[in-house]
Amino acid sequence: MKSHQDKAPKRAERDRVVIFDTTLRDGEQCPGATMTFEEKLEVAEVLDEMGVDIIEAGFPIASEGDFNSVQEIARRAKKAVICGLARAQFKDIDRCAEAIKPAARGRIHTFIGTSPLHRKYQMNIDENEVLERVTASVTRARSYTDDVEWSAMDATRTEHDFLCRCVEAAIKAGATTVNIPDTVGYATPDEFAGLIGMILIRVPGAEKIVFSTHCHNDLGLAVANSLVGVGAGARQVECAINGLGERAGNAALEEIVMAIRTRGDAMPFFTGIDTTMLTRASRLVSRVTAFPVQYNKAIVGRNAFAHESGIHQDGVLKYAGTFEIMTPESVGLKESSLVMGKHSGRHAFREKLKELGYELGDNAFEDAFVRFKALADRKKHVYDEDIEALVDQEIASAHDRIKVVALTVIAGTGGPQKATITLDVDGKQHTCEQTGDGPVDATFRAIKAIVPHEARLPLYQVSAVTEGTDAQAEVSVRLEADGKTVTGRGSDTDTLVASARAYVSALNKLLAREARRKPETMLAS
Ligand code: KIV
Ligand code: ZN
Repeated sequence: MKSHQDKAPKRAERDRVVIFDTTLRDGEQCPGATMTFEEKLEVAEVLDEMGVDIIEAGFPIASEGDFNSVQEIARRAKKAVICGLARAQFKDIDRCAEAIKPAARGRIHTFIGTSPLHRKYQMNIDENEVLERVTASVTRARSYTDDVEWSAMDATRTEHDFLCRCVEAAIKAGATTVNIPDTVGYATPDEFAGLIGMILIRVPGAEKIVFSTHCHNDLGLAVANSLVGVGAGARQVECAINGLGERAGNAALEEIVMAIRTRGDAMPFFTGIDTTMLTRASRLVSRVTAFPVQYNKAIVGRNAFAHESGIHQDGVLKYAGTFEIMTPESVGLKESSLVMGKHSGRHAFREKLKELGYELGDNAFEDAFVRFKALADRKKHVYDEDIEALVDQEIASAHDRIKVVALTVIAGTGGPQKATITLDVDGKQHTCEQTGDGPVDATFRAIKAIVPHEARLPLYQVSAVTEGTDAQAEVSVRLEADGKTVTGRGSDTDTLVASARAYVSALNKLLAREARRKPETMLAS
């Protein structure tokens, strides 16, 4: 039997899989992964550059912040379609339409729960009411744009007959993409492929639109389910960098893209993604969310291309293909190269920044260079990762109101541990000494004594940027205030200095957020 895809005019277009990235919506909405406005713009820029077809930039009705970031991403996007999420309510759809308005190409993505569980317990409405809302929401969205996606939330636990009726209603009302989410990550690959195939065969008008997958990873099947969905006729995959998303996350974008690229023999499809940007995107998302990437994570994990055993190393040295199914270069992983020492000059440093993808203005460059020199004085080998940590910190702190000037800590078995810190706050220096339950506690208490606040600290995390005892520590500190979280980062060869910088960076982000809401708070106390 021929599927509707066989009737498409060009084989190449028929086999193209549209990559819909939801890192900034489903990913950002998971606990602890909150990003600031600037961080969202940074992630969106990389997604756009790497060739993501559709960026789901947020849920505009959810908050003022979400609205603003969707709108700004829509303004800045160069190639990607910018999409906003909306429940099946007119106020959501209207707000979403306003947010995506500046985009050269914008999409409204509206959804409703279709399963018996969602109908009864979440909305307490019957099947007819769901069908009416599908028609009304898609029609409303089509009044703003001709690119409308409709999703059947919890589709994989919905009665097949009813799901087909909903999909038909959405198509009739003008949906151009229909998404079949495995919202709770419950489906097996056979079931999921069968579901997509069944809808394509049964629903009138299915041949005119694009079907999409959106698979959650509760049973570790998100990528497998998405790929069999494509095999069954879906041509859009919703996924997120590093598999970020609700609970166990979404299908990982990098895994979907590299599976399609590497196994073209088994899956004759293609995507428009520049795979050499995958490592950069993964590191960026991990950095801004402070969600570490599992060491053995496929494609972007630290060990994904490492060969430890003697037999493997021997094989790879003789012929890489013996144990490598894709090259590290194809995902943008470069040999960590020795950069320069303390004698390296401005020219070499500027060249290195260019190679790493940074473009700094003159002032930022000078500041970064001074910090590089200081680091090279203390650290024998300065690697690419060190430079990246240093410059990321420089960029993040460019507009900070609070800066760490000096820190002295007395630590060790004797106790009590003591920290003396000097902070520059709006150009004025303040010094404070505090004892604490350990040197980090003492340091944070001293900072809090200078900048009093009520924020909670749900995360303090330390990792090493490179190997060796002189490696820089990269510290992430998450602060939570008024139900919102921010994550600050700091790096230094001294873990305590990195900790102080991370804490101060998080405070600066809280201040910036507060200032947007009500200027001159917090520091006034
Ligand atoms: O998981 C889900 O069903 C969703 C929808 C909003 C598409 O995220
Ligand atoms: Zn989801």
